[in-house]
Amino acid sequence: MSQPLKLGIAGLGTVGRGVVKIVQKHADLLEKRAGRRIVISAVSARSRAKNRDLDLSAYAWEDDPVALARRKDVDLFIEVMGGSEGPAKDATEAAIAAGKDVVSANKALLAHHGQALAEAAEAKGHVIRFEAAVAGGIPVIKALTEGLAGNEIRRVMGVMNGTCNYILTRMESAGLPYETVFEEARQLGYLEADPNLDVGGIDAGHKLSLLAAIAFGTKVSFDAVELEGIGRISIDDIRRAADMGYKIKLLGVAQMTGRGLEQRMTPCLVPADSPLGQLQGGTNMVVLEGDSVGQIVLRGAGAGEGPTASAILADVIDIARGTRLSTFGQPAATLAEPVAAKATAPAPYYLRMALTDKPGALAKVATVLGDEGISIDRMRQYGHADSDAPVLIVTHKTTRDAVNHALSRLPATGVVLGEPVAIRIESV
Ligand code: HSE
Repeated sequence: MSQPLKLGIAGLGTVGRGVVKIVQKHADLLEKRAGRRIVISAVSARSRAKNRDLDLSAYAWEDDPVALARRKDVDLFIEVMGGSEGPAKDATEAAIAAGKDVVSANKALLAHHGQALAEAAEAKGHVIRFEAAVAGGIPVIKALTEGLAGNEIRRVMGVMNGTCNYILTRMESAGLPYETVFEEARQLGYLEADPNLDVGGIDAGHKLSLLAAIAFGTKVSFDAVELEGIGRISIDDIRRAADMGYKIKLLGVAQMTGRGLEQRMTPCLVPADSPLGQLQGGTNMVVLEGDSVGQIVLRGAGAGEGPTASAILADVIDIARGTRLSTFGQPAATLAEPVAAKATAPAPYYLRMALTDKPGALAKVATVLGDEGISIDRMRQYGHADSDAPVLIVTHKTTRDAVNHALSRLPATGVVLGEPVAIRIESV
């Protein structure tokens, strides 16, 4: 009879509690699937006194996660504390140094230190797995590293922050401004302790950088992700984009181009009738494109106790079974140094601006766009009661540089009121 696999769980927040519950509830099922028993030896969290509505009496308690990581009765260290530095990093390094395998839900830690941690673990023959770190319950790491291992990956896209998708879709359905819905999301407990991690696109950018490393065999390069949050998206943009057949999403895109690796986590327009366009509320969606398989769409809960713990258990069972995959789908020492693309691939853009309602105003704007080589695909001017005429323009494919040049020249026309908005349209 095989020895049980002994877990040490660092962190008893939403995810840690979920892991304990699954191990307790499904002990027999897990044993059948893994071929050995999966047991918890010890747990660690900031406060032992806190009421967690869990029976932890059978487990040793450690106040210090580093001590937990070094315990002799822990084979597998589960890090569900969060944070790119401090205790999470110290304890993960301690676990690797002590010769343990690691399962982590910590996207920030891996986005910043994943390469060094993976190299250290793999040099000792140990593994770090992180299914729970990207898109919660969606098995996207497994899809990339296992299911699509025979493909050259063309593009990875996704809505990977449920809070942002909740805010954008709620703004649209309730007709509420960003600030009101942001506050609502805070009341509902959707926002991270530092809300900028969500609405600034950082959390989703961490996730994208991890997927890009696996997809393209490159070292994680979070610093090269172009990041823009959703704070400047107005209810007007959401409504006008809908009129033109689009939805606004905080969309991650990673692709290897002739100019290098492109990684973006920015607001984009996507066709309203596409799977990404139809994604509502806090749900996540990841779209993977491989040369042989074509397009795969994965959709599900990107956060929460059950979904995230489900992803942790997938990694735990793999390790219990003896499946020992490299952290990033190939040995970390063989990952290439990524060359970041200096410019993003050309795309159509959505432009919104208010023009003075005078003869020739539109012609002046069209001239600036034409001078920059930007061709107009569609245009709409709205009826208006006051002197500003709201105008929407959808361009043919152009570069971000051309759009920026055109925007910088518009004030000199003397016909554009306020700040024009430009948002990329992603073909999905
Ligand atoms: N805050 C994240 C989200 C979940 O809203 O999707 C954790 O990454």
